[in-house]
Amino acid sequence: MEKIIVRGKTALSGRVKISGSKNAAVAILPAAILTAGTVFIENLPDITDVHTMICILENLGVSIRRRGKNALELTPSSIAKIAPSYELVKKMRASYYFMGSLLARFGRAVVPIPGGCDLGPRPIDQHLKGFSALGAGINIEHGMIKLSADKLVGARIYLDVVSIGATINLMIAAAAAEGRTILENAAKEPEIVDLANFLNAMGASIRGAGTDVIRIDGVNKFSGASHTVIPDRIEAGTFMIAAAATGGSVIVEDIIPKHLEATTAKLREMGVRVEVEPERIMVEGVESLLPADLKTFPYPGFPTDLQPPGMVLLTAAKGLSVITENVFDGRYNHVDELKRMGARIKVEGRTALIEGGIGLSGAPVAASDLRSGAALIIAALMADGESQITAVEHVDRGYENFEQKLIHLGASIQRVREKDYNIQSGTRD
Ligand code: EPU
Repeated sequence: MEKIIVRGKTALSGRVKISGSKNAAVAILPAAILTAGTVFIENLPDITDVHTMICILENLGVSIRRRGKNALELTPSSIAKIAPSYELVKKMRASYYFMGSLLARFGRAVVPIPGGCDLGPRPIDQHLKGFSALGAGINIEHGMIKLSADKLVGARIYLDVVSIGATINLMIAAAAAEGRTILENAAKEPEIVDLANFLNAMGASIRGAGTDVIRIDGVNKFSGASHTVIPDRIEAGTFMIAAAATGGSVIVEDIIPKHLEATTAKLREMGVRVEVEPERIMVEGVESLLPADLKTFPYPGFPTDLQPPGMVLLTAAKGLSVITENVFDGRYNHVDELKRMGARIKVEGRTALIEGGIGLSGAPVAASDLRSGAALIIAALMADGESQITAVEHVDRGYENFEQKLIHLGASIQRVREKDYNIQSGTRD
């Protein structure tokens, strides 16, 4: 086990290049098995969630050739099974996209019920409702979801909640169904558009991705394709917030600023100087931040994945700020850890009240999921003294070279094996 040691009170400064989008990559990789041809994917982030996805593909029998650390070529011509291994699937929730892709390719799939980050209840009823509307039979037994269909037939599907996962799974399955599918109340995230572009490059016929009505005309043949994954808007937003939180000055590069409008607007509302150029955003922190109300919503609203880092930023704004988490029921796992660092936060249901401007102090804290881990590291950069963040494997799931990028911006961070670091004296054993 490893942990990260951070010495606080450093203003970040310099440039940071943003990697490919995790949430687009983990949808595109399973979707690639719709073809038996060769697919080339570049700008894949070098993170453990992508590594796990690649292992699942290899385990299914897909032939993979790595092309450097951010690209690969895969040929799913001889897939040997329709049941991804439980040991691999349990490592990441997005492996449930194999329900859609195996069903589309083989008419059958056996996939373990997904787990994933603990963000409160995460039902998959909308995925299953959609598969059933497309003509799939569904059986849930012994922790497995078994799907089968002689043929998938297009349907009109209205999603009761805006769900990224359900939109992706149903888009993948419907791409191979007979006739037209209309997905209503679909998610509009850029990752959905990226997946639709990839599927279309393989021969699918999908229109309307990025709006809440997606039309999919099923096809029965998919070809090989090349695709470049879009930049990770959540990684970019994390660095923007880190720059503002440390009173630094950072240029966040290789991004699509349009995907970050809600974050840019919220930072400006707090008094942060933000300048937007075609492929980069400059963020300059200010001495006194203004408190703000922050409400998470599906895209184009403020992303729930930036709520934990956003909360850390609000602890630095003198006065009362209010967060309303509208996407997940229980996404406040980071609050108790922030309180250990001196933050004054009160949670009531989906609302968090933050009394900011108190000043954080370094402490040993534990990450409970990917974004809470990133938030705690930002808090540690702001805090007085040294912090130790354990369970950093959560951070490795979704941020490529996170601490290296921060070190490049001037942060004092070190990764050590837990047993090699003496907590009492703060030295290596
Ligand atoms: N929901 C249902 N029924 C369903 C599906 C979803 O009620 O069948 C509810 C969920 O419980 C939640 C809401 O709908 O309250 C939105 O869930 P969604 O399906 O959109 O989330 P997801 O697909 O499970 C993705 C990202 C998450 C991100 C959320 C919200 C991936 C692999 N994961 O999850 O990313 O927080 O959308 O934006 O794309 C992360 O990157 O750290 C992360 C957790």
